[in-house]
Amino acid sequence: MSRGDSEGERSSRSEERYPPPDWFVETANVTDPDIGTRFEREWPDCWTNAADLLDWEQPYDEVLTAADDRLTWFPGGQVKPSVNCVDRHVSAGRKNAIALRWIGAAGERRSLTYLDLQYEVEAVAAGLRSLGVGPGDVVTLFMPNVPELPVTMLACARLGALHNVVYAGFSADELADRMASADSEYLVTCDGYYRRGSAVGQRNTADSARLRIDADVTAVLVGRLDDDPKLGRDYHGYGALRNEFAGATVEPVAREADAPLFVLYTSGTTGEPDQVTHSTGGYLSYAAWTSMAVLDIKPGDTYWCAADIGWITGHTYGVYGPLALGTTTLLHESPADHQAGGHPWASIERESVDVFYTAPTAVRSMRQRGAPPTDEHDRSSIRLLGTVGEPMDPTTWHWYREELGGGEAPVVDTWWQTETGGIVVATLPALDPMQPGTAGPGVPGISTSVVDADGDPVDGGEEGTLAVSRPWPGMCRRLAAEAREAGAEPDSPKAWQYLTGDRAVRDDDYVTLLGRDADTIETDGNAVGTAVVERIISSLNGVTEAGVVPVPEGKEVVAYVSCDRSRPDVTVLAERVRAQVAEQLSPSVCPDRIIVVPELPKTHSGKVMRRLLADVAGDRGYGDTSALRNPEVVGEIETVTREQE
Ligand code: WT7
Repeated sequence: MSRGDSEGERSSRSEERYPPPDWFVETANVTDPDIGTRFEREWPDCWTNAADLLDWEQPYDEVLTAADDRLTWFPGGQVKPSVNCVDRHVSAGRKNAIALRWIGAAGERRSLTYLDLQYEVEAVAAGLRSLGVGPGDVVTLFMPNVPELPVTMLACARLGALHNVVYAGFSADELADRMASADSEYLVTCDGYYRRGSAVGQRNTADSARLRIDADVTAVLVGRLDDDPKLGRDYHGYGALRNEFAGATVEPVAREADAPLFVLYTSGTTGEPDQVTHSTGGYLSYAAWTSMAVLDIKPGDTYWCAADIGWITGHTYGVYGPLALGTTTLLHESPADHQAGGHPWASIERESVDVFYTAPTAVRSMRQRGAPPTDEHDRSSIRLLGTVGEPMDPTTWHWYREELGGGEAPVVDTWWQTETGGIVVATLPALDPMQPGTAGPGVPGISTSVVDADGDPVDGGEEGTLAVSRPWPGMCRRLAAEAREAGAEPDSPKAWQYLTGDRAVRDDDYVTLLGRDADTIETDGNAVGTAVVERIISSLNGVTEAGVVPVPEGKEVVAYVSCDRSRPDVTVLAERVRAQVAEQLSPSVCPDRIIVVPELPKTHSGKVMRRLLADVAGDRGYGDTSALRNPEVVGEIETVTREQE
């Protein structure tokens, strides 16, 4: 079915589809209704559309080839990432446009124009070079969302060095593991930062990590808490280096399209963190293209990606995508739901945000607190809203569009992973009608299917594993190697499919994500994704969020639920939950216990940690909570759980 055919159709996922408003379509970046069929017909050459968004030092010979050990996107091409994200906007006469606006935890505001950004990037690149950093070196960046982080990422890219950003909330062990595994002998870190109003020291963590690493590490310290932190013999000062090399010119290193741009570890809520490496040409083209086509970013926009740069979302849609397109990217020190004052409204109003991209968990927490009236905080600047990271339930989706999008702005639910580099499943906002709770078709050029345990496609409407059944430019290097090994070539791309580990169902053309493969309830020989039950529960009045887990110990299903300010009666709520699940799904997956908690446990990247809920419900003890953003809620969850037994 081609794009657009499905308008107005009702889906068996029970929700209607909503077309975008005319005012949005009028200025949207992608409006060609044939784009899907064109990309299909012209695959893989369709991806020149993405590559053409970049300036190439050396044009590529082909779009895709099969090299000895992996697939290579844009072979023969050479590209300078920092020129694409910085210098070219300066030379195009946009030197005074704001590239980066930073909003600190206390509401401080710092703006860098594209010219400022170039100046900073060159100074820092010169400083790093003086410390020995060169092409192929891995520089670990252990910093929160401060302007120095994107500046240093781009400085690394300018030198042909790879950055390895480690989320600032990680422990010394986690930092040491990631540095050792990436063979990184350079570290840029900071003295600390502000989180929820209080100063968090970071230098001690970096110091302890360094003690655990065998290699000699050259380290640079950014002063965030103290402008002039004591350096001792262990650190070079970021500010001093920057001042020493202020005004330097650093000729950017041209990188082969296939050269690595950075490494990053997946946030991994289960098992060991995985190192993911992205290639310069393919990744950057894909970041720019999806930012343009799905998030509809334009140069004049003010765009807010609320993710921490420590995750792939911050890399692709906080830094590389928006800067490649020459827009203004907003960087907040605090997460969207923990802004000064506890909400994102003031920032949206003050900065006149055009496009806002955040996690469903952040939206749920905003919903839980309630939205201020629009005459108190105007958000009419919003043109497009997006979510990423977890399945979006229809109720939260409607709230998001109503309260932030004035009931009209398109909302894109974007599915992707660290490994995919950029958005894979979503709607194109001016072309594909939105379906609340459903991500949409794959972006043009992407082909997805839902498969069973043997990798064979299941029928429409049946649950299975989401597979991406053809290579794409944003694929990480491990996937490019796996695809090659499986025999994928430009003319037989479907010899390989990437099993994503996520459950999904396809109705008509749209894919609905149902959580990780592991998150299922086995019943009568069938597996049902816990997300299916969760979305039914979240649709009930008074509920903001639900985390459903099977608990083998008691052969039971337990639903943890958080409620809004109306605080519904627990017994009544439990009856409503059971009645709804029985009616809409099946009595066999009805939660046996419904436990109301103030908040669900969430990882730093905003995912509900279901494993921990299952541990508590099964009374197995819950162990380490350092991967949580809100470890303080676990004690209470445990207490309430025991009380209800
Ligand atoms: C996992 C990837 C993608 C950047 C952020 C996290 C889940 C992501 C959605 C969505 C349902 C989603 C999946 C995926 N996920 N987006 N729109 N709907 N689930 O990157 O840490 O690599 O996590 O996040 O389970 O596999 P990541």
